[in-house]
Amino acid sequence: MHRSNVTPRRQFLKQVAAAGVAGMALPVVRNVRAESPNERPVFATIGLRNQGWAITSKSFDYADFAAMADVDSNVLGVNVEKAEKKQNRKLDSYKDYRKILDRKDIDAVMIATPDHWHTKIAVEAMLAGKDVYCEKPLTLTIAEGKLIEQIVAKTGKVFQVGTMQRTESGQRFLQAIALIRSGRIGKVQRVTCGINGMTGSPAIPEAPVPTELDWEFWLGPAAKVPYRALPEMRTGYGGGVPLYSNCHYSFRNWHEYSGGKLTDWGAHHVDIACWALGGKGPSKITPLEYELPVEYKDGHPLVSDRYNAATSFKIGVAMPDDVEMIITSEGDNGILFEGTEGRFFVNRGKIVGKPVEDLKENPLPDGAIEDVYGGKVSANHTANFVEAMKSRKQPISDVWSHNQMLEICHLSNIAMRLGRELKWDPAKREIVDDTQANAFLSRESRQGYEINM
Ligand SMILES: NC(=O)c1ccc[n+]([C@@H]2O[C@H](COP(=O)([O-])OP(=O)(O)OC[C@H]3O[C@@H](n4cnc5c(N)ncnc54)[C@H](O)[C@@H]3O)[C@@H](O)[C@H]2O)c1
Repeated sequence: MHRSNVTPRRQFLKQVAAAGVAGMALPVVRNVRAESPNERPVFATIGLRNQGWAITSKSFDYADFAAMADVDSNVLGVNVEKAEKKQNRKLDSYKDYRKILDRKDIDAVMIATPDHWHTKIAVEAMLAGKDVYCEKPLTLTIAEGKLIEQIVAKTGKVFQVGTMQRTESGQRFLQAIALIRSGRIGKVQRVTCGINGMTGSPAIPEAPVPTELDWEFWLGPAAKVPYRALPEMRTGYGGGVPLYSNCHYSFRNWHEYSGGKLTDWGAHHVDIACWALGGKGPSKITPLEYELPVEYKDGHPLVSDRYNAATSFKIGVAMPDDVEMIITSEGDNGILFEGTEGRFFVNRGKIVGKPVEDLKENPLPDGAIEDVYGGKVSANHTANFVEAMKSRKQPISDVWSHNQMLEICHLSNIAMRLGRELKWDPAKREIVDDTQANAFLSRESRQGYEINM
């Protein structure tokens, strides 16, 4: 871990005392932490609006934040202020994340930009010597996943993907996997991942770029297109931005920047399903039923003024050992595991079914949950990352297992875009006998936004 030039907390407290609290611009120090301040890593967050703040705010107990970056100056200002209040310490703010990567005092970056930026920032961060916590879905393409794996292997950097269901949600998902490993539903036959559909959008007209936003930089590696937005605002989760746009929050509904529900929620539930099944890759992806909100030709949308990711879908995935995986927009959000001797359902809020009820009489063996997790379950996903930074072992959401399951989500999207079944070779990581489909495994970066290697 780098030595920090951020004032260690004890020294800071002495300075506060020496200066006299009344004379200090900073508020009264609270939440003095027990551990040695010198062991606290120094973090910076890149991309702050919705999830960026969510992961930052869960991390103050484990790290000191030295800087933040966002291409929207309002978002940057608001979140830097919140962080300064929270940790009673100034932060540096940048529009350009490369200023963060240049700093030697920052040990790790948390990345919560839209997906089309993840790989470029993550790779450059590792090459600049930083450990990385990057939001799910880690990548836009399967080729990006391979590159990240190479750079993790080459640099030895610790890399956590933000699939916090592996650590959090009351350990329900860990319990689900422990139930399966203990044979409580017999041989697994089918796993259904309910990840909900989405509504399409009306036509979204070109609109003036908000003055606080650097649209060119937001687009980054993606093709240069006009900013689009309708006046109606999003409320509730992710709110405070236009309900329909090709930018904040709504980027997830466009293949240019993300992969719709398949990668947004698939990255969570397909992840747990694959972990439970033992982490081997699929052999076939069949788009059984699906609806795309715009017309496609050769896998590309024919209109550019509205959301283009699938609105509803039922994908069949042939997994090893004759297990059928279904990824569907129908039904409850969560995962239904069905086996020769029973079935149960799990999501973030509940785990239900006879095998779960039977635990009262026949509990899981001691240590079953820890066996799944690979040790004591961390207090949260950031805590697990920081523990890994100290041990220099990869954390619970490692890039290899993440990429393996995210391949199913990316392939599902390719299958729907092309309207046909795909055969997958998990060892070669190639679609079998389908040149056109294989062309979707990678994507060109816009000139000037290639990854700096
Ligand atoms: N783990 C989870 O459960 C979870 C939940 C929500 C979102 N996410 C993920 O977090 C990421 C962000 O989602 P969101 O809902 O917060 O999106 P958002 O659009 O609300 O926020 C993204 C922020 O990134 C900023 N940004 C864009 N390009 C940037 C760049 N080059 N440098 C710095 N900042 C940049 C934007 O200005 C914006 O403030 C996505 O990958 C999403 O899938 C994960």
